[in-house]
Amino acid sequence: MDLIHRPRRLRRTDPIRRLCRETRVSPDSLIYPIFFDETLQGVRPIASLPGQNHYGLDAVHQVVDGCLAHGVRHCILFGLPAVKDDRGSSAYDENGVIQRAVRAIKASYPDFNVITDVCLCEYTSHGHCGILHGHEVDNDDTLEVLARTALSHAAAGADMVAPSDMMDGHVAALRGALDQNGFQQTSIMAYSAKYASAFYGPFRTAAGSAPAFGDRRGYQMDPHNRKEALRECKLDIREGADIIMVKPALSYLDIIRECADNFNYPLCAYSVSGEYAMIKSASAAGLIDERRVMCETALSVFRAGADMLITYYAKELAGAIQAGEMG
Ligand code: PBG
Repeated sequence: MDLIHRPRRLRRTDPIRRLCRETRVSPDSLIYPIFFDETLQGVRPIASLPGQNHYGLDAVHQVVDGCLAHGVRHCILFGLPAVKDDRGSSAYDENGVIQRAVRAIKASYPDFNVITDVCLCEYTSHGHCGILHGHEVDNDDTLEVLARTALSHAAAGADMVAPSDMMDGHVAALRGALDQNGFQQTSIMAYSAKYASAFYGPFRTAAGSAPAFGDRRGYQMDPHNRKEALRECKLDIREGADIIMVKPALSYLDIIRECADNFNYPLCAYSVSGEYAMIKSASAAGLIDERRVMCETALSVFRAGADMLITYYAKELAGAIQAGEMG
């Protein structure tokens, strides 16, 4: 056959395929979510997220050593407080679960990068992400509490704070509070395009953060929208976000690509609990090869344009990358 172009030439051997790869993934780009439960001692498996655990504050070394052993150097923390109230006041308690976890991690592992999720849903008795006025989450009242929460995380030593509440003006509120209190060097990773998604189910069971009534569609984004994601990112960048985020990842690869193309800011994607749980249960049912699907889905997020990925598979992915399974 008289073929000038034979794309298969560059697929012929493993070294050639490795040479020509367009997407390269590193353990440096992976962020591991950790759940600390104030009422727990030791470690307890999370039923809705097979392979993941709740950690007591006495288990800091166990969980961080586990990350470092795999080459994972970044975490994002979520807290399960001992007490909740309608204003989520344990979210900004200087002796709250996250504040204590951050101090404990930083005391032993100063180079381990600690990002804290800043939201109220785990801390409010009603499970919404802010302060209620009637059945509505009041935006501006919530900002004050979020800013106070972020400040308490920064004071505990967090490297980055990550507001996941989807209130308008949240980045400006956090940046202002941080700067006024001498935390100019604390970065903000903004959950900018966070959709009202059914994929958060296993997380809400794990974090005890499902709303007691209604849903989050009044503040999280409508999954039908694309241009709105660009507006949200633009707003967060203008307000001072250092890193922007798209969440979930797998059903929103188009949004990741657009954000990567439109903004010259580091872009994070969050491969959420439902994405993880689907792979886990399909592989437990013998339907898919877990390791390969884990690698392929993570790869797709990076190929779509993400610079970094929050994933419950961070440790296994780091292992797969180091073993050359991902290239
Ligand atoms: C807090 C928050 C949620 C997630 C991250 N931060 C839950 C929600 O918005 O209901 C979800 C993460 C996941 O599903 O893995 N607002």
